[in-house]
Amino acid sequence: MGSKFFVKAKLLDILKFSSISTKIMGIIIGIVLVLGGWTSFQTYDTMQTTLREQLIKQGISTSQYISARSVDLIFTNDTFTLHQLISKVVESNKDVRYVFILDSQGDLITNSFGKILPKGLLDANKVSADSQQNIQTLNTEEGLVYDIAIPIFEGTAGTVRLGMSELEIQKILDKTMQRMLVTTILVAVIGIFVAYFFTSLLTKPIVQMVETTKAIGKGQFDQKVKLSWAHDEIMVLGKAFNEMIENLQKSDQVRSNLLKKIISAQEEERKRIARELHDQTGQSLTSLMIGLKMLEESKDIEEIKNNSMQLRQLTNDILDEIRDLSLALRPSVLDDLGLEAALSRYTQDCSVKLGIDVDFQAFGMQGLYLEPEIRLTIYRVVQEALTNVAKYSKASEASVILERKGDNLIAIIEDNGVGFDVQTILDSTIYEKKLGLHGMMERVNLIGGELTIESEPGMGTTIYNHISLKGLVANEKSKDFNS
Ligand SMILES: Nc1ncnc2c1ncn2[C@@H]1O[C@H](COP(=O)(O)OP(=O)(O)OP(=O)(O)O)[C@@H](O)[C@H]1O
Ligand SMILES: [Mg+2]
Repeated sequence: MGSKFFVKAKLLDILKFSSISTKIMGIIIGIVLVLGGWTSFQTYDTMQTTLREQLIKQGISTSQYISARSVDLIFTNDTFTLHQLISKVVESNKDVRYVFILDSQGDLITNSFGKILPKGLLDANKVSADSQQNIQTLNTEEGLVYDIAIPIFEGTAGTVRLGMSELEIQKILDKTMQRMLVTTILVAVIGIFVAYFFTSLLTKPIVQMVETTKAIGKGQFDQKVKLSWAHDEIMVLGKAFNEMIENLQKSDQVRSNLLKKIISAQEEERKRIARELHDQTGQSLTSLMIGLKMLEESKDIEEIKNNSMQLRQLTNDILDEIRDLSLALRPSVLDDLGLEAALSRYTQDCSVKLGIDVDFQAFGMQGLYLEPEIRLTIYRVVQEALTNVAKYSKASEASVILERKGDNLIAIIEDNGVGFDVQTILDSTIYEKKLGLHGMMERVNLIGGELTIESEPGMGTTIYNHISLKGLVANEKSKDFNS
């Protein structure tokens, strides 16, 4: 039981860890051996049966010949010619092992052995006068012998006994088996070579794909799988694999470009804030300080009033500057009022800011709390999409729709402008480092959503954002800045 289990486990291990070519070669060797073995067995069996039948038939006809020829010789008591007759038969026919003739009393007249018969042979077979012949199979030291007994002159003259040996047949059978064995081994060896050739042809692209996958894993996106010449499943797999590498390469390029852009945008923004603080707010605060000094030195009440009025105006300007700066840094309306209100305000401002009129509609947003990242993502996507509309679309109408459908949030930005070929633009913008569209997609992907662009030259543009809120939605009134 234990050893059976061990053998099974070992076989499974071999199957598990052997390569495809080893498996295929194993199958071919198995088939050749089973087929070879089965064919050999069948051939051996059929040949043996046929040869035996022939041997017996030959024995019977030889016995009949002897019987016919010996009638006169027995009646004339010519034992010498009788002996010559049987000796000739034994000499001329290799399969005839012995012949002997008995008289009607069952006494031996002559035999081909020399003097005496082997023990027990005389009584091993008998034939009655009224039957044609009787055959007995004798298992001797020299192999099987078919003993044929035939009555001479209906038994009145005696009996012919003839032994047909299987020795010659066995030799032929052994030779045939040897040949079949050699052929089977030869076919198996040829099979191994052919299988090796074809399986290496088959597995070569797979091995190559493994190498390429390893290289891709290390970030070497310039690697490609060489497609096999045959139009089979492996070639289709190779093709799909190369497409996957191309897509990976593109998104890797987009990501690295975006990262660079983010870093440089951050630097730019800091420079701008520093400049703004230094050039404007700094200047204004210096003026305020000088004004306060003048106020300190003013004597007459009219002058004081005048100066403090100017100072109030200056302070107001400084406040405006700081508000502008902070607004540019982050749309506080998004945190204070939520996405719906922020988008409503932004789309209203579009005609002034971007020179386009945008229609805004929201559905099912009441009481919906959205995570800050989702709010900011949608806001930035709408901003970029509408900036593009203003820059490129030449549209007469644009609209933004925000809708909650069950566990999903849908945001659609649409225009009826000139449109564009989406795939061509997406492919080319990666290398031109225009990252508006790719940036939008990445942003939406980061919050687990999906952005699809539908556009065609002359057909306008629609951008769909689909964000799943499953597990994120908390329908709390307390946090009621849905949107
Ligand atoms: N609404 C639109 N209508 C027509 N063409 C558009 C529209 N939106 C985008 N495009 C086309 O897609 C291209 C890529 O847009 P994308 O926003 O990625 O880059 P950009 O606006 O040129 O640069 P960036 O956004 O990085 O400042 C544009 O150059 C334009 O040709
Ligand atoms: Mg853009």
